[in-house]
Amino acid sequence: MSGHGDPVPMISHPVTGLTGVADVPGDKSISHRALILGALSVGETRVTGLLEGQDVLDTAKAMRAFGAEIEKRGDTWHVHGVGVGGFAEPDQVIDCGNSGTGVRLIMGCMATSPISATFTGDASLNKRPMARVTDPLALFGAQAVGRSGGRLPMTIVGAAEPVPVRYVVPMPSAQVKSAVLLAGLGAPGQTVVIEKEATRDHTERMLRGFGAELSVEDREEGRVITLTGQPELTAQDIAVPRDPSSAAFPVCAAIVTPGSDVLVPGIGLNPTRAGLFTTLREMGADLTYENEREEGGEPVADLRARYSPDMVGIDVPPERAASMIDEYPILSIVASTARGRTMMAGVKELRVKESDRIDAMATGLRANGVTVDEGEDWWAVDGLGPQGVPGGGTCATHLDHRIAMSFLILGMAAQAPVSVDDGGPISTSFPIFTDLMHALGARIEAV
Ligand code: S3P
Repeated sequence: MSGHGDPVPMISHPVTGLTGVADVPGDKSISHRALILGALSVGETRVTGLLEGQDVLDTAKAMRAFGAEIEKRGDTWHVHGVGVGGFAEPDQVIDCGNSGTGVRLIMGCMATSPISATFTGDASLNKRPMARVTDPLALFGAQAVGRSGGRLPMTIVGAAEPVPVRYVVPMPSAQVKSAVLLAGLGAPGQTVVIEKEATRDHTERMLRGFGAELSVEDREEGRVITLTGQPELTAQDIAVPRDPSSAAFPVCAAIVTPGSDVLVPGIGLNPTRAGLFTTLREMGADLTYENEREEGGEPVADLRARYSPDMVGIDVPPERAASMIDEYPILSIVASTARGRTMMAGVKELRVKESDRIDAMATGLRANGVTVDEGEDWWAVDGLGPQGVPGGGTCATHLDHRIAMSFLILGMAAQAPVSVDDGGPISTSFPIFTDLMHALGARIEAV
């Protein structure tokens, strides 16, 4: 609902024996990028497997406002792009709903055009920091005027005569890296982006696929990405792989629910995204990769997850954080049913997601009888062992889809049902979540 609808309170009951095949939807990060790069290219880009969650639909609407033609025929999304430099000035405010990826990437790709646009979002997005994007966009010559603290609603005045930049991204953020690269498309010459820690690289991969000249070098200073500006991007056919961040939910549900055996086919295992699965296996999860293959240049496998009663808490290596940043909420649920303490450090970015995810998860876990310690940059969950979590709590989701799904999964494995105050935001990333979990044997109800 991305804040567009009334709250949808939900409850999840303890169950046993989740079984079956879970076909999760397309990757959210790749779906946003397919629409945006399609809009910036010449010709017709055809996209299959697009995630039709609210976040991505909001990005499609925004791209139309900048002049692209986008329609769905059958199972395929057709994007008629306007080419780099071809954006029209929108005559309406761009509402990106709940999506930080949407707004930050779109701000980037319009910032080096001689147009202005005003952006807004829901109550969650309008609290999130935008200076991390507008600071580097200012180096290209763009201006931003927003609310205090660099919050939306915000107007970006694009640079009429953009200059290329060299920018070291100060935090591990694929959104910031991508915003700078997309702005670099509109600037003449070479834009260089340096990231000290590797984050998801879908923008780099897709820019190359659309014909941009882009190189990546691993140097002492970090991952150095060099993009040649003002290319002509050529329309592509894109098959969006299934989202590992959505797969995380049925996988973890199977791991914590007695008697479960669930197959989650066709999941992208790009190393910049697959950190959760490595962590689960280190904790002792019965999680196997079947039918490992390559699809569209990405490693893909079918994941088989079975109930895993012998899970133990571990110290998650901080250097793994970027590759599983969206998965800490569901990991903390698994940790609560493992034996011993799970320590998650180097994760302060969790505090500026759709919600403050450390605070939201810690508060909800405590309401269900779990001990959680936290600091600015870390948190630790004391596991109560299989079936050890009392449950019975109601958790505030703060317009955050991943908080809602995580607590609904806790309800499957706790001693008493777990409630959330609002499951509406689940539709931003995983609109079929409830139906898919029901088909496996879950009991989730709107109340
Ligand atoms: C995303 C990057 C990550 C992630 C978000 C999607 C992307 O955010 O949390 O869900 O598609 O680039 P940050 O760049 O803020 O880490």
